[in-house]
Amino acid sequence: MSENKREKVVLAYSGGLDTSVMVKWLQIEKNLDVIAICGNVGQDEADLTAVVDKAYKMGAIFADAVDLRKSYASRVLTKAIAANALYEDTYPLLSALSRPMISKYLVDYAHKHHAKYIAHGCTGKGNDQVRFETCIHALDPELQIIAPVREWDLLTREQEMEWAAEHDVPVPTTAAKPYSIDDNLWGRAIECGVLENPWNEPPADIWTMTVDPEVAPDQPEYVTVGFEKGVPVSINGEKMKLLPLIIKMNEIVGKHGFGRIDMIENRVIGIKSHECYECPAALAIIKCHQALEQMCLDHDTQHFKHQMDQTWATLIYDGLWFSQLKEALDSFMATTQEFVTGEVRLKLFKGSCTVVGRKSDYSIYQYGLATYGDGDTFDRTASKGFIDIHSLQSKTWSTVQGPGARRAAEGHDFEQF
Ligand code: ARG
Repeated sequence: MSENKREKVVLAYSGGLDTSVMVKWLQIEKNLDVIAICGNVGQDEADLTAVVDKAYKMGAIFADAVDLRKSYASRVLTKAIAANALYEDTYPLLSALSRPMISKYLVDYAHKHHAKYIAHGCTGKGNDQVRFETCIHALDPELQIIAPVREWDLLTREQEMEWAAEHDVPVPTTAAKPYSIDDNLWGRAIECGVLENPWNEPPADIWTMTVDPEVAPDQPEYVTVGFEKGVPVSINGEKMKLLPLIIKMNEIVGKHGFGRIDMIENRVIGIKSHECYECPAALAIIKCHQALEQMCLDHDTQHFKHQMDQTWATLIYDGLWFSQLKEALDSFMATTQEFVTGEVRLKLFKGSCTVVGRKSDYSIYQYGLATYGDGDTFDRTASKGFIDIHSLQSKTWSTVQGPGARRAAEGHDFEQF
C-alpha cells in the first residue's frame, strides 16, 4: 500500500553510468518511483531498447526512449539555421539546442504520470544543469528539480562503480572513456581528459565524424544545397526533409575533414573551458545559409540581423530557449527569411569548405548595378551628390578642428612593432 503513495520523479536517462546509478539512487535515497526517459536526438547510442530494458531491471516503474530527431530537426534546427547560430561566433550550440527539446518531453511525461520531480544527470559545473532547469521552470514553475550529482557523495568513478555493484546496477564492462562526450544530429562535443590542458593538441582519437584533413580525398567534391525561406531543402537538386539532409551532410562534409573546432569557451556559470567539437553538417549548412543571406537580405537588415544572430545564440547557450526575448527574436528571424530561397554551391577539399557559387530568384545582388562592363544601369553621376552630403561632417570637422583631423592622419605610434 505505502509503495503506491510514493511520489514520482521523471529522470532524464541516457543509460550511462551516472544516470543508471540514479535510477536506483532516487528510489533508495529519495524514496521515489522513477520514470526513466531517454531522448533520442541522434546520439551515437547503438541500442536504446537495451537502455530501456536496463531501466526496468533496475526498478523503474516506466521507461521509454523517445525518438526526438525529427522534431529536433524541424522545430529546433530550422530556427538555429535561420539565426546562423554560433555561440561566440564559433560553436553551433549542439548541446544547448537539444536541451529544450528534451526538457519539454520530460515535462510532458511528468504531467502524464503526475510526477512532482524531474531529475537530471548534469554536474554542478556545467551549462546543461542551467539549461534543463531553466527550461523546466519556464514550462512548469511547479515542478521541482533533483540534481543528484550536485548532492551525492559519489565523487569519483570508482566510488560510483562501487555503489553500483552494491546496489545491483549493471556496471559498464568497457574501460572508462577518457573524455566527456555529448553528441546528436548537430555534432559532437568532446571535453575533459588531456583536453583540460589547452596547450595539448587534441589527440586524433577524439574525432569520429570527420576524417583527418591530411588523409581526406585528394579530389575536391562540389555540393549544392538548396534553401526555401531559410530552410535547407535539397542536396544536389534532390529534395529531402531536414533530418535526412543533415545526416547526409554530416557524411559528405565529414569525409572531407571539415567541421572541427577547438576553442576556449565562456560557460554561463563563469568558468572558461576548453572544448572540441566536430560539426560537419552544422558548420557547412550555416556557411551556405549566410552566403544566401548575403544575396537576399538588404544592407540594413543583414547588418542588424548579424547582431540579433549573436544575441539569439547567447540566449540559447544560456538556456533561455523558452523566453520572451527568444520568441520575439524568432518572429524577427522568420520575417527576414521570407526570401532566403535559392542555392549555394560548396567546394569541399582536405578540411576546407568554401562557398563557390550562389543564386536566388530574390537576389538583391543585381548584375546591372554591380557590373563594370556592358549593361551597367547604375547612375554614376549621382554619386557625387551623395558623397558631398555624406562627407559633410568630416569636411566641417577638419575645417573647424584642424588639429584633431591632423592627429588622426598621423596615427598612433606603433613603431616598436
Ligand atoms: N560546452 C558545450 C555546451 O555547454 C558542450 C557541453 C557538452 N556536454 C558534455 N557532457 N560533454 O553547450
